[in-house]
Amino acid sequence: MSEVVRVSLEGNVAVVSVNNPPVNALGIAVRLGLRRAIRQAIADDRVQAIALVCEGRTFFAGADISEFGKPPTSPILREVHEEMEDCPKPIVAGIHGTALGGGLETALACHYRIAVPGARVGLPEVKLGILPGAGGTQRLPRLVGVPKAIEMICTGDPIGARQAHEMGVVDEIVEGDLRAATVAFAARVVAEGRPLVKVRDRNRLIEEAARQPDLFHNARAHYAKVKRGFLAPQHCISAIEAATQMDFDAGMRRERELFTELLESAQSAAQRHFFFAERQASKIPDIPPSTPRRPLDQVAIVGAGTMGGGIAMNFANAGIPVVLLEANKEALDRGMATIRRNYEGSAKRGRISAADVETRMGLLKPGLQPSDVSNADLIIEAVFENMALKKQLLTRLDQHIKPGAIVATNTSTLDVDEIARATVRPASVIGLHFFSPANVMRLLEVVRGEATAKDVVATCMDMAKRIGKVPVLSRVCYGFIGNRMLHAYFDQAFALLYAGCLPEQVDKAIYDFGFAMGPFAMSDLAGLDVSWRIRQERGETQPIADRLCELGRFGQKTGAGYFRYAEGNRTPQPDPEVAAIVEEEGLKRHGKRREIGADEIVSRCMLALVNEGAKILEEGIALRASDIDVIYVYGYSFPVYRGGPMFWAGQTGLDKVLEAIKAYHDAGCGDVWRPARLIERLAAAGRSFADYDKDRA
Ligand code: CAA
Repeated sequence: MSEVVRVSLEGNVAVVSVNNPPVNALGIAVRLGLRRAIRQAIADDRVQAIALVCEGRTFFAGADISEFGKPPTSPILREVHEEMEDCPKPIVAGIHGTALGGGLETALACHYRIAVPGARVGLPEVKLGILPGAGGTQRLPRLVGVPKAIEMICTGDPIGARQAHEMGVVDEIVEGDLRAATVAFAARVVAEGRPLVKVRDRNRLIEEAARQPDLFHNARAHYAKVKRGFLAPQHCISAIEAATQMDFDAGMRRERELFTELLESAQSAAQRHFFFAERQASKIPDIPPSTPRRPLDQVAIVGAGTMGGGIAMNFANAGIPVVLLEANKEALDRGMATIRRNYEGSAKRGRISAADVETRMGLLKPGLQPSDVSNADLIIEAVFENMALKKQLLTRLDQHIKPGAIVATNTSTLDVDEIARATVRPASVIGLHFFSPANVMRLLEVVRGEATAKDVVATCMDMAKRIGKVPVLSRVCYGFIGNRMLHAYFDQAFALLYAGCLPEQVDKAIYDFGFAMGPFAMSDLAGLDVSWRIRQERGETQPIADRLCELGRFGQKTGAGYFRYAEGNRTPQPDPEVAAIVEEEGLKRHGKRREIGADEIVSRCMLALVNEGAKILEEGIALRASDIDVIYVYGYSFPVYRGGPMFWAGQTGLDKVLEAIKAYHDAGCGDVWRPARLIERLAAAGRSFADYDKDRA
């Protein structure tokens, strides 16, 4: 018997136990082992039932994603399932941890399923740009009905064991030793002569759905809206619909066809890349996982404004006590009241309970004295973005901060090294760039200064995960990774306005590419006044933006920016007043205007990101190209089905990318188009950013 799958006999029950760390993914060794184990149990006359359990932290977490894109190796999962479902002896799955994707599908091919209360089950394939390809779209609707199956499969979100029990996915919830409970359940099935329940034969719920054709039409319309641009949810619905239109075997064939189409799609390649990119981002080559962490039991946030308040909520949500510090009582009261209002809003929408509101508020202690930071293991300053102010504040706090505590600056642009040098503990200083709204956005840029100690970096990467963030490491430069690239992107967005576009044209092209919004709607949301002030401080001009600001058009908050906004409505409306300014400034700059198509808009904005991203890589600011992708998807709404800007460049082909960049450079479109040497080098060698990442792993 293969090492990963073991069989032992307990009474009349064969225990098939799988051990394929870390998550029992259903790779070829597991599939072969499972098939052999089932065949062995069938052949063994002493065996009357089979208990299927997994060792380690979880039941099967799904197919082995790293096998996708390679030629399939027999037996494929659905073949193993067929043998399991047709097994003449009952098979009982004992679920703990997560039964996801192919893992849940394996459980659905069993005759009974039991789970521990903490288990979670789901079909998350849609998040990888595919569909459940081992019978999930045919078996789940037969068990839970079409509407619930559509929801589970199209959102990909797992459900808890209790809910799974209520819905009929799981037959029983068991406490205590799962292995023993699974064996006992299997023995009971034999003793009571219970039937071999094959999900494939349960047709009542799908026949019911077949009489409601609107169900599928409505689902398609709904997911076209909430998952705009994604192929997989639509294919998922088609596969589930097939379950209601044909017999089980034909439905399985249709599921396979749709699965294969998705697996071969560029979207799925991008989403699978992203799955691994996200996990890779927390690995830092010179900081081993065994690096000791500093304690993190109490946090202090300095500054109770929008940013500080949002940051504080993250910690309270994770059950970590926070002192929220302000210089004056009014600002502090205002900050605390805003937090309470946010929590109460969440409670009203049913996201948290009224008790949660009080628990979280109870973890937040207001403070007015610098000495209030003295118990904190982590102090995050989130005051106004001004170097002198931040340095002054940290110098004042220094004497109150306990030895070993980590001092973080929440800055989006400032030099973390300079800030660190102003303190007595530069090795304990780090940048934590939260994205606004800080309690919602998943991305956290962790900025490692030249003096930052390794254990400080390791502690902050862990802390980020503890508060539900996705951390990505950056070295110090102006704007770090995300905003430095954004600068190049905006540079092009403006260049397009001067050359011939209107804001609505640029935004539409970028929205259609898949971003949540275009650059100008994004500016209106963030407020135009912030960058206006920065330009004034730096002696820079941006005539179109400056003129809008001079008119008091600061964006949504003033009802007008690059677009107009009707009272109480956040939908951007094109504005002739803006068009006139854009045209006038464009003519002033170029003497003429030209028609610019969506392709050029997308090409210029995306290639600007890619070229700057490559420069950031060659300077060692980012560790990997895939880290940049994670930043752009989580921080800037780059469509995940395109994998992130660097992956998109790879799919476009670096030779083509370089050619276009050179063409813009030669056409005098600005220094931003000086090709990154890294792109030149990789393109010349016929290599990609993925190769670059692999070389450095
Ligand atoms: N295949 C291959 N590797 C996987 C994997 C999978 N299905 N799931 C997780 N891993 C790997 C991760 O890449 C990671 O590897 P490294 O340590 O080398 O980085 C390791 O397992 C641990 O994963 P996490 O860091 O994510 O651990 P976690 O405890 O935070 O989360 C989890 C565990 C909830 C299972 C999470 O890993 C997860 O969501 N996995 C993916 C589940 C999934 O999408 N399953 C469907 C697969 S597709 C399918 O099954 C198709 C089909 O229909 C046949």
